[in-house]
Amino acid sequence: MNKILVTGGLGYIGSHTVVELLEQGKEVIAIDNLNNSDIRVLSRIEQICGRKPIFIEGDILDKDLLRKVFDEHKPEGIIHFAAYKAVGESTEKPVMYYENNLSGLINLIGVAEEFEVYNFVFSSSCTVYGDTSNSPIGEDEPLQLAISPYGTTKLLGEKILQDLVNFKPFKVVNLRYFNPVGAHPSALIGELPLGVPSNLVPYITQTAAGIREQLVIFGNDYNTPDGTNIRDFIHVVDLAKAHIKALDYAANNDFKLEYFNLGAGKGHSVLEVVKCFERVNDVKLNYRFGERRAGDVVQIWADASKADRVLDWRTELSLETMMESAWKWQQQLGD
Ligand code: NAD
Ligand code: UD1
Repeated sequence: MNKILVTGGLGYIGSHTVVELLEQGKEVIAIDNLNNSDIRVLSRIEQICGRKPIFIEGDILDKDLLRKVFDEHKPEGIIHFAAYKAVGESTEKPVMYYENNLSGLINLIGVAEEFEVYNFVFSSSCTVYGDTSNSPIGEDEPLQLAISPYGTTKLLGEKILQDLVNFKPFKVVNLRYFNPVGAHPSALIGELPLGVPSNLVPYITQTAAGIREQLVIFGNDYNTPDGTNIRDFIHVVDLAKAHIKALDYAANNDFKLEYFNLGAGKGHSVLEVVKCFERVNDVKLNYRFGERRAGDVVQIWADASKADRVLDWRTELSLETMMESAWKWQQQLGD
C-alpha cells in the first residue's frame, strides 16, 4: 500500500502520523476542514520531512468532495482521524458530535465502498471500556456504554465497522488509544488545544508557561498508591508509528476486523506525571489538590501485548520524553 488517505491529517495525532507515513516513503493525501487545526501545520510537516502531503481543505461530511478526492487520488488505504474529541463539549452538544463523528464515518465508508478501497484504520479510544476496574485491560474486555456522547460515537463507530465487515470486503483495524501526550521532537508539531484545556498535559504546560495560574489535581483520595488517578500515557510519536504497522498488517493479512490497544502497558498517576514534568524540565509547577472530577475512571492502563505480538509494535518513548517534548512544544507556541 503506497497511497494513503488520512482524514483529520493536520490534527494532533494525524499530523504526527502523516510525518511517519512520509518518512516511510508513502504518498499521503490529507483532508482536514481545519476545524481544530491550523494550515501552518502543513509547512511544519514539510520542514520535518522535506516534502508534504497532498492537502485538501474540506469536510468529510461533504460526500461529493470525498468522491472527488477518491477519484482523483486513488488511495489504497484510509486512516480515519477526523472527529470532534472534547468529552466535556460533547455533553453540551451531543447531536453535533453524533453528526460529525458518525455521519463523517458513514460518508467515508460509503465512498470507500464505491471506490473499492477496503483497508481502513479507525481511531478508537480506551473510553469504549467505560468505567472498568480490570486493568491491565485486554482487547477482549467487554465494552460498556460510554459516559459521554463523544465516547458513544467511538463505541458506535466500532459497532458500525464490526457490522460492515460481515457484509462487505473491508479490512478494518480499530486502534484503541489510551492517553496520547507529548509532541514531535522537533517541536514543530504538537497538540493545539483551543481555549482552556481539559486534558492534563496541556493544562500542565500552560500552567508552567503562566497562561493558567494553577493546576488542580482532581482528587487525591482515590484508592491508588498516592490517591490520584492512574492513566496509561503514550507518546504521540509512538502512537503515530502504530498506524504504519496497522496498515502493513492490513496489506499482508487476510482478516475482516482487528482490535488493538495502544498504550505503554503501564500506569502512571497524575501526581507522578506532575513530578516528572517538574523534574525533567526543572520547572516548579503551581498546583493543588481539588475535588474529584465527575466521570473520571479511577485507574486504567492497557494490556498492549497483542499489538506487540501481532503488529510488532511497542512503545519506545518514556514518560520523561513525553514531558520534555510537551514542554518544548509549549515554549515554542509562545513565539
Ligand atoms: P484533533 O482535533 O487534533 O484532530 C482531528 C482533526 O480532524 C482536526 O484537525 C480537525 O480539524 C479535523 N476534523 C474534524 N472534523 C472534521 C470533518 N468533519 N472533516 C474534516 N476534518 C475534520 O484530534 P486528535 O487528538 O488528533 O484525535 C484524532 C482522532 O483520535 C479522533 O478521532 C479522536 O477522537 C481520536 N482519539 C484521540 C485521543 C486523544 O486523546 N487525542 C484519544 C483517543 C482517540
Ligand atoms: C479523557 C477522556 C477520554 C479521551 C481523552 C482524550 C474521560 C472520562 N475520558 O481521558 O475519553 O479519549 O480524555 O481527550 O473524560 N486531570 C487533573 N487536572 C486537570 C486535568 C486532568 O487532575 O486539569 C486528571 C484527570 O482527573 C485524570 C487525568 O488527569 O485523572 C487525565 O485526564 P485527561 O487528560 O482529561 O484524560 P482522561 O480523562 O484520562
